[in-house]
Amino acid sequence: MNSTLVINAKGGVGKTTLVTNLASYFASRGVPTTIGDVDPQGSSLNWIQQRPTDAFKIYGADLSPRGAPGAAITRRQIPRETKQLIIDAPAGPSRLMLQDLLARTQSILIPVAPSAIDVHATANFIKELLLVGQVRFRNIRVAVVANRVRNARPVYAPLEKFVASLKISFLTKVSDSDAYVDAAERGLGVFEMPADECGAEQREFLPIVQWVQGEEPVAAPAEPSNVVPLRAESLAG
Ligand SMILES: Nc1ncnc2c1ncn2[C@@H]1O[C@H](COP(=O)(O)OP(=O)(O)OP(=O)(O)O)[C@@H](O)[C@H]1O
Ligand SMILES: [Mg+2]
Repeated sequence: MNSTLVINAKGGVGKTTLVTNLASYFASRGVPTTIGDVDPQGSSLNWIQQRPTDAFKIYGADLSPRGAPGAAITRRQIPRETKQLIIDAPAGPSRLMLQDLLARTQSILIPVAPSAIDVHATANFIKELLLVGQVRFRNIRVAVVANRVRNARPVYAPLEKFVASLKISFLTKVSDSDAYVDAAERGLGVFEMPADECGAEQREFLPIVQWVQGEEPVAAPAEPSNVVPLRAESLAG
């Protein structure tokens, strides 16, 4: 079983959107897929409930403190046949929860929203993450995805430099698109929508799918030419 944790200390940055679209991709390819929802809000589990009855099967496991007070229960909740486990983390996880989540994952995906505030908060979160020894010790893969990108916003150049300085992959820019909102409302992901409606979203999302499957990104996203790069140290504080 491949296990991917989608996490950021910030709320509302697109964790659930990445989780549901990844799950919908794998499920639509016939891969037994489970979403582990650690967030007591239960947004991913709610999305699964919205899915049409004839949609590809995606299992939902309530891994929130409410649903899974112990690790043994957690393991029992995840169907044995699961090949892809995608974990939706809550905003602001405690250090204890972070350690628990890292113990059961091979890859960490961090969505970041396009604002200087979010970029700085994420840089701090990544530093905190790397301080939890397991990431280095167990060689857990870490990648960042820019989410809700409206244009080539300069704010990402500092983030790209920062993650590059830490040898973390910057995978792709996911656009701010109604397609993600419309699909989510129907309990679907963009890969389950017609290509003539969601082709651009499907293409921009593919590098995330490929990375989750173990591939490393081919090339870093191009840096807009009008950007004056900040030095990574200025983000690292
Ligand atoms: N790429 C996108 N384009 C348009 N809307 C988006 C995109 N990504 C996320 N959203 C919207 O932004 C809101 C927050 O996204 P989401 O719920 O995925 O974030 P989250 O990090 O899981 O939030 P929380 O911390 O509350 O769990 C939602 O309404 C979602 O539909
Ligand atoms: Mg969420």
